[in-house]
Amino acid sequence: MISRRGALLAGLAIAFAGPLAAQVADPLADRFGGAFTLTAHNGKRVSDTEFRGRFLLVYFGYTRCPDVCPDDLLTMSAAIHGLGAVAERLQPLFISVDPARDTPDKLADYVESFHPRLIGLTGTEAEIAAVSRAYKVHRVKYTPANDPANYGVDHSSLTYLMGPDGKFRTLIPHNTSAERMRDVVLGYLQRE
Ligand code: NI
Repeated sequence: MISRRGALLAGLAIAFAGPLAAQVADPLADRFGGAFTLTAHNGKRVSDTEFRGRFLLVYFGYTRCPDVCPDDLLTMSAAIHGLGAVAERLQPLFISVDPARDTPDKLADYVESFHPRLIGLTGTEAEIAAVSRAYKVHRVKYTPANDPANYGVDHSSLTYLMGPDGKFRTLIPHNTSAERMRDVVLGYLQRE
């Protein structure tokens, strides 16, 4: 026998199982990501479509970044190592928010120091502005008071996981541990 309260809850569950459930399932879907063609650290032009069939871990930053980028890239690298063989289904990308200074050569030295499979991407200012908009990346130049000759770039520090279809899956915030990042990514790799 079902109580009145039980019946009420069951009724509510039925009422909310439809459109609300679908909406809650993936509130950030399609908010981040999009088409790009950029220049890789080996000098070749690369488009997002070339990565279809593989997951992407996408991080935006710049080689002169004093602390946030190295922290996040070390975390990403450790997470990928922690995945073992399944990491082959995953391509890590580092997209420069400072294309004026991040030439392919500069990026090549930089990405190699973090992970052998990390691809550095740069481009024209217009190309980088477009891909930053697509991923909703905050990107603002600033001049440090103690070093006015060298500008810095304030930038958001999210790591995006994109699926084999090129679409957004989830994002991983700064200060996430490598173990947590590995577990989150592994969850998606096991589902698809
Ligand atoms: Ni940075």
